Amino acid sequence: MKYGIIGASGKMGKEILGVFDEAQHICVYTYDVDGEAQIEAPEVLIDFSLPAAFPKTIEIVKKFKVALIMGTTGLNAEQLELLKELGKEVPVIQSFNFSVGIQLLLQCIERVKGQVDGWDVEITETHHRFKKDKPSGTAIMMKQALGRDVPVSSLRLGGVAGEHNIYFGGLGETLTLSHTALSRRTFAEGVLKSALFAAKKQSGFYSFRDVMAG
Ligand SMILES: NC(=O)c1ccc[n+]([C@@H]2O[C@H](COP(=O)([O-])OP(=O)(O)OC[C@H]3O[C@@H](n4cnc5c(N)ncnc54)[C@H](O)[C@@H]3O)[C@@H](O)[C@H]2O)c1
Repeated sequence: MKYGIIGASGKMGKEILGVFDEAQHICVYTYDVDGEAQIEAPEVLIDFSLPAAFPKTIEIVKKFKVALIMGTTGLNAEQLELLKELGKEVPVIQSFNFSVGIQLLLQCIERVKGQVDGWDVEITETHHRFKKDKPSGTAIMMKQALGRDVPVSSLRLGGVAGEHNIYFGGLGETLTLSHTALSRRTFAEGVLKSALFAAKKQSGFYSFRDVMAG
């Protein structure tokens, strides 16, 4: 696959370059604050940058008419709506979390939520000190899976790649569902799965759950 990365110089950009390189895919386009570099037209574009890059991302996708894997968090409702619109033209895969374990955690939440009437529910998320958005996009997805708003506590500590917990508390017991990303590699592997998935699709707006379902 010939692919391009928006946010190529960032922590996730570098991780994605490494994982795609191992699988012998070729990076032919990069874009970051220092400008763009192009060798050939990419077959798929991957965005792990900041919401400020969003207009340029849309412009590049339309220019090359290729699939987009959108991993940037902190996008607002209008930007998410624009991505859905873009999905009418090309395959768009958007997720605030590309790890398999978080998708399983979301499914666990959907399973538990109907059985805990009257219990307290709270979420905690811990990330490295450089993370810009708060709460994390994953915490937002966890609330969506729960189907209601609950308190989220955000910790920003050192180099933590990503830790999410959801606590259910009854008067006589508590239940905790917990996920830890051990490194950024898990997200990059999810992006690779998504890029391979996108290559088989015509157009549409997809989640990482759709990718996992095949
Ligand atoms: N969806 C997921 O699974 C997942 C996983 C990890 C991180 N993320 C998200 O991915 C994004 C990147 O994370 P990171 O840890 O690599 O951050 P980072 O700060 O290390 O990298 C971001 C890169 O984007 C570039 N950038 C910023 N603004 C830009 C602009 N206007 N135009 C072009 N380039 C611009 C920066 O120069 C930098 O190289 C964040 O939004 C983060 O929350 C998502």
